Order: sequence, then C-alpha cells, then structure tokens
Amino acid sequence: MKFHRFFQKKTIVSIENESNSGVLKRTLGPWNLISLGIGCIIGTGIFVLTGQEAAIHAGPAIVISFIFAGLASCFAALCYAELASVLPVSGSAYTYAYASLGEIFAWIMGWLLILEYGAASSTVAVGWSGYVVSFLHNIGVTIPPEYTKAHGEIIKLVDGTTVTGIFNVPAALGVLAVSALLVKGVKESANVNNFIVFIKLAVILSFIGIGAFYVHPSNWHPFIPDNTGTDGEYGYSGVLKAAGVIFFAYIGFEAVSTAAQESKSPQKDIPIGILGSLTICTILYILVSLVLTGIMSYKDLNVPDPIAVAVDHIGLPWFSIMVKIGAIMGLSSVMLVLVYGQTRIFFAMSRDGLIPSLFCKVHPKLQTPYINTIIVGLIVAFAAGMLPLSDLSHVVSVGTLLAFSIICFSVMYLRWKEPHVKRPFKVPLYPVVPYLGIASCLYLISGIYETIWNLKYYFIAGLVIYLSYGQFKSKLTVEGPSQADDIPEKVIKKRK
Ligand code: ALA
Repeated sequence: MKFHRFFQKKTIVSIENESNSGVLKRTLGPWNLISLGIGCIIGTGIFVLTGQEAAIHAGPAIVISFIFAGLASCFAALCYAELASVLPVSGSAYTYAYASLGEIFAWIMGWLLILEYGAASSTVAVGWSGYVVSFLHNIGVTIPPEYTKAHGEIIKLVDGTTVTGIFNVPAALGVLAVSALLVKGVKESANVNNFIVFIKLAVILSFIGIGAFYVHPSNWHPFIPDNTGTDGEYGYSGVLKAAGVIFFAYIGFEAVSTAAQESKSPQKDIPIGILGSLTICTILYILVSLVLTGIMSYKDLNVPDPIAVAVDHIGLPWFSIMVKIGAIMGLSSVMLVLVYGQTRIFFAMSRDGLIPSLFCKVHPKLQTPYINTIIVGLIVAFAAGMLPLSDLSHVVSVGTLLAFSIICFSVMYLRWKEPHVKRPFKVPLYPVVPYLGIASCLYLISGIYETIWNLKYYFIAGLVIYLSYGQFKSKLTVEGPSQADDIPEKVIKKRK
C-alpha cells in the first residue's frame, strides 16, 4: 500500500485554476448567496424540530439549546469563510480538506458531507411532508396515513387505533420535484429560491410579531424542567441533547461555499453570504423558540407541524393556513439547496477521480450535471420515503459536527503550512476561534454520541471504497501532482 497517496494534496494554485476553468456559469452575486444560505438554513429545524425537541428533551430551555448550537455554528462559519475566501471552488469542505490535509481527509470529508447534504435533504423532505399532509387535510384531501410516514413507523390515529407506515409518498415526490428543477438549471433555480426565501421570512416574522402578543410567561416555568432520571430527558443533559439535534437547524450556511464556482466574485461574496445568512437565522431562531414555547406548553409540541399547531392554539385559523403554505414553500427551498449542494460535492469528487466520471458529466445545453442530479434525487427520495425524521436528523447532525471539526482544524493547518497565501477573509481572534469551534462541535456530539456507533458500517463502507477504488483512480495518482503548478506567476500576480 502506498501511504503517501493518502496525504497527496491539491495545490491552491491548481484549485484556483480549476475554479477559473468556467465549466459552470457564473451567475450569482452577494444577495443571491445570502438568499441561498437562508434558503438552506431555515427549514425543518425551526418548523418541526424546535417543537419536538422542546417536547421530548429540553422544555422551554430549547432557547438555550439554540444559543449553544448557534455559537458552535458561528465558530465553524468563521472558519468556513476563511477557507472559502482562500479556495473559492465548488465542493466546499471537501475541497478545503484536499488542499490542506490531503486526499484521505478529503475522502472522509466527502463521505461526511453525504450525511450533511444527502441525508439532510431526506430529513427536510420528511418535515415538508408533515406540513403538506396537514395542509391537504385542511382543504379536505386526506392521504391514507400509512403513505405519509416512514416504513415501520407506528402512527396513532385520532380514534386511538394505530397503523404502521409503509412509505412516505409526499416526501419522496417533493425530492423528485426539486431534482427536476435542478436538472433544468441553476439560474432558474436561484430565482425561484429568492422568491421562496421572501415568503419564508414573511411567515417567520409574522409568527414572531403576532405570536408575541399571545405569550403567557407561565408557559416558560419551569424553564429547564427537572430531569426525569433518564439521560437526555430534560434537565441539563436534555438541553445538551436538544442542542446536538437542533444543530440541524443551522446547517446550510456552508452550502453558500459550494456555489463558489457559480459566484461572480467568490472571494468577497462567499464570506458575506455565509456570515450574513447565519446571523439573520440565529436571531430569528431564538425569537421563534421563545414565542413558540411561550404560546403553549412545551409538552404539546411533539407534532409534525408545531408552528401551525401553536397558531391554531391562539385561535387564528387563517394564519395557520398561511404558516403551512409558507412552511411548505420554505422547506421546498431547503430541499432545493441541499440537493444542489450534494450534487456539487459529487461533481467535485468525480472531477478528482475519487468517484466515477459520470458524476461530473455536464449537459451540453442545460450546463448542469444532470446524471449526477438524477442519481442523487432518486437516492434521497427513497431515503425520505423509508426513514423517520428522528433517525435522519441525528445522523445529519453528527456527520456535520464531525465535518465542521475538520474544517476548524484545516484552518489552523493551512495557516501553519501556507502562511503567505492571500486570505481576503481572516478568522478573528485566531487561534481561539478554531479551537473553540472544535471544542464546541465535539461537545455537541457528546449529547448524541450513540449515533456515531449506529453509523459504524457507513464509515467502514467509506474506507473500503476509498481503499479499493478512490486511491487508484484519483487524478493525483493517475496524472501525478497538478500541472497547474507551472502557472503560479499569473495567479500570484492576480492575488497581489
Ligand atoms: N437547516 C436546515 C433545516 O433546518 C437543514 O431544515
């Protein structure tokens, strides 16, 4: 076995060179990128998990969980922004790991990002399905419950009887619809995204503005309900567990960096997109969770559509319908950005030879990686139909927290190895922020540690594929170190 292959790196120059190769169209400006970020961040986390986690783990202290998770995301976001400004190419964390730590870390990162983007797309689709089913019910269309839940999930009906889920049909159809839109093209998709983000923000702001008048502070007592004796059921361990799970709500800001190749001015605009979208969402989350747990008892929020249920509780049925429509549109945009992110990660891995080349085949007319998008769409739709929300969201949070720890580490490694490279955006208070980023991500993982064990076969499969395929087919192995090293002057001049 040739161990040196594991640590072979792409040079920053070669990455810049690829980013200038112009295969994908450069159409996105800073507002498109902030909107892309918000489109991906605000979703199932706030519309569904906030209520469910308050009900089963944290009580009203879900607000504290949001602050913990928001801090961890903020440290990771600052690290992301620095890497994105140095390496403005598609593939995000995967590419950053390739340039800083070496090929095997890039592979591990790519494998973790499949959890972050692929599994998250399925998670959001399940949340979306909850609001769709509830809305359809309001307008008199009732889908048989066994076709609205994961395979094997037990559903309690109003009359007290139970049925077992077969396949979540609306969730799977939702994924297929956004995949079709992505095959059509990123420009159209970004425009649709901007519109939906507007609607989603309008709903969230109205919920905060109207809901604030119906808050009964007595619902916030006890703010941290006493632990039941079981680890993670209320008390401090519950707050930590909920923080690990609702970390999911912050995932998405880094999808902005996957759009670097389609951004007009990536070095300036990618950090703006990441930090801008994260800041806006953090403030909104804290306010929504305060209002939600203030309107009604946290114990009644373990439902598929908690925000709509809270609005029903205050007796505004018209607003409840609006919330459902907004959530359905909002969650669609999250699915769109997540599926988009997953296809672009596969695109980058395929271009590097680590997975088969059909994943980077671009349609001659549409200029989109259409085969890649169709494959991703089918797999994500299947997972969304078969798996329950809780399993999916735990997996996504763990995968992402691990990926974020590697990102924070990469910033420190790259500063040490390549101190002179130009960094248009620098992490403030270096090295405190990356250290805090790693510590806070690992701390949040400790609240949901059992999920790592559940993923053992997934991690083993990843290593087997790299050892038996990726390391041999990798472009760096086949073609040798990047030829782009012969053009440093041009790029160095451009950097100055
Ligand atoms: N942050 C996204 C959501 O909450 C993934 O749906």
